[in-house]
Amino acid sequence: MRHLVEDLLAFVRTEQRQFTLRAEAFEVGGFVAEVAATQKAKAQGKDLTLTVKVPEERLMVEGDRGELIRALAHLMDNAIKFTSEGEVTVSAAAVTSDEGKRAVEIAVQDTGIGIPPGEEEKIFQRFYQVDASSTRRYGGTGLGLAIVKEIVEAHGSRVVVETTPGQGARFAFRLPLVGPAT
Ligand SMILES: Nc1ncnc2c1ncn2[C@@H]1O[C@H](COP(=O)(O)OP(=O)(O)OP(=O)(O)O)[C@@H](O)[C@H]1O
Ligand SMILES: [Mg+2]
Repeated sequence: MRHLVEDLLAFVRTEQRQFTLRAEAFEVGGFVAEVAATQKAKAQGKDLTLTVKVPEERLMVEGDRGELIRALAHLMDNAIKFTSEGEVTVSAAAVTSDEGKRAVEIAVQDTGIGIPPGEEEKIFQRFYQVDASSTRRYGGTGLGLAIVKEIVEAHGSRVVVETTPGQGARFAFRLPLVGPAT
C-alpha cells in the first residue's frame, strides 16, 4: 500500500511538472551500480543473474540524479518481475548520436516474457498492463513506466523499447555526456 501511494504521489508530481529538475553532473558508473545494488536481493530471490556493465572510464552525465535513480529502479524492477529465468543486465555505454552528439546510453535488458507486438507504446500509459490479470500475478499498478517516461522526457530524452516476445525486453534512454570526470 505504501509503495502504491508513493508511486501515485510521484506520478502526480511528475505529471503536473511540480518537480524542478536539478541539472547536476554525476558519474554514471556509480549511479548504475547504486541502483543495481538496491535491486540485487530481488534478483537473487528469483535466482536471476544480475549483471552490471559500466565503462572502465569515468563518464560524467548531466541530469537530476535522484529522479533518474527512481526511473532506473522502475525499469530494473520490471525486468526482474517479468523474468522467471535467466539474466537481467543493466548497462551504461558511451554512444554517438546520428547528429554526432556524444551521450551515454543506460539500458536494462532481460530474458523475460517480452512485450507483445503493438503493446510497446501502450505500456507507457498510466495503469496500463499487458495482461489484465498482471496485477494479481505480479503485483503493481501500471504506473512505473508512466513515471519513467515522464522523468526521461523531462530530461529531453526518450525511452526506447526493443523486445522479442517470449525472449525478453530492453529499455534504454540516453543522457548527455558532459566530459570526463576529474
Ligand atoms: N521488462 C518487461 N518485460 C515484459 N513486460 C513488461 C516489462 N516492463 C513492463 N512490462 C509490461 O508493461 C506493463 C506496465 O509496466 P509498469 O511498470 O508501468 O507497470 P507494473 O510494473 O505492472 O506496475 P508498477 O510499476 O506500478 O508496480 C507491465 O504490467 C507489463 O505488462
Ligand atoms: Mg513496473
